[in-house]
Amino acid sequence: MVFTRKDILDINSLDKDEISMILDTAQGMKEISQRPVKKVPTLRGKTIVLFFQEPSTRTKLSFDIAAKRLSADSVSISKSSSSIVKGETLVDTARNLESMNPDIIVMRHSSSGAAHQISQRVKCSVINAGDGIHAHPSQALLDMMTIREKKGKIEGLKIAIVGDISHSRVARSDIIGLSRMGAKVTICAPGTMIPPGIEDLGCGVAENMESCVTDADVIMMLRIQKERQENILFPTEREYAALYGLNRKRLDLAGKDAIVMHPGPLNRGVEISSGVADSGCSLILEQVTNGVALRMALYYLVAGGGSRHADVD
Ligand code: CP
Repeated sequence: MVFTRKDILDINSLDKDEISMILDTAQGMKEISQRPVKKVPTLRGKTIVLFFQEPSTRTKLSFDIAAKRLSADSVSISKSSSSIVKGETLVDTARNLESMNPDIIVMRHSSSGAAHQISQRVKCSVINAGDGIHAHPSQALLDMMTIREKKGKIEGLKIAIVGDISHSRVARSDIIGLSRMGAKVTICAPGTMIPPGIEDLGCGVAENMESCVTDADVIMMLRIQKERQENILFPTEREYAALYGLNRKRLDLAGKDAIVMHPGPLNRGVEISSGVADSGCSLILEQVTNGVALRMALYYLVAGGGSRHADVD
């Protein structure tokens, strides 16, 4: 199969074969990070701009580390350090970035659709690192990689996603991607955090946390995204934790060898207890490790690596 996509903007535009190719490529990339010299020359001479207009720890650093592991040159620009604060538009900013001839722009933005908008105006590749509540494709792909690595498959797994679905670009991307790969996804949240029509993405909606996690193979917990909420959507964090928090008692309802995931950052004691987050069932830090390999794979594939037998040794 040949990977022909210029951009990675959302999961919806990737078919099952493309997702499998990305996951296979990422699995092959993972070993590079275990070497004494964690660097291959594959993308030497390529320039990657990291254009992050929202805070990020995991995504930004792993895109940066991934670029360096493939010998690409990466440069960063943030909203506060750019001329956006002087009134320059997003499109003008992107056109000016393009004038410096980068090969890939990685972009995080608070507005849904920002990465799509830019991708139509620049010739280089654009990778969406999270846009508003819309999509976070690299997170969903690293989640799929982590599940497949641990469980040996995605198809047929029962996956529970619990938390602030309304404001979560991760939830939307995971629901679409995991359903496309054949998993049975069920979500759970307070009614105020479930958007109308979410079932159309391919998931079921559980009435309560207990029924959602019972016999689940994977439990994915989500942070309450207060920064995107206009109104208060639940009475108190204590009540939220009591009804929707993952603790040991609820984890015991899940299937044998169930795994726990979270895209981070965690709010310990709210959506997840420390006992669960730090337990042997938790793959939260493995998700972060896989994030580097997955982002190496995305760079490699959009740079043309999937259309030739490029040497990554
Ligand atoms: N998972 C995730 O997107 O984390 P950051 O916001 O820290 O990048």
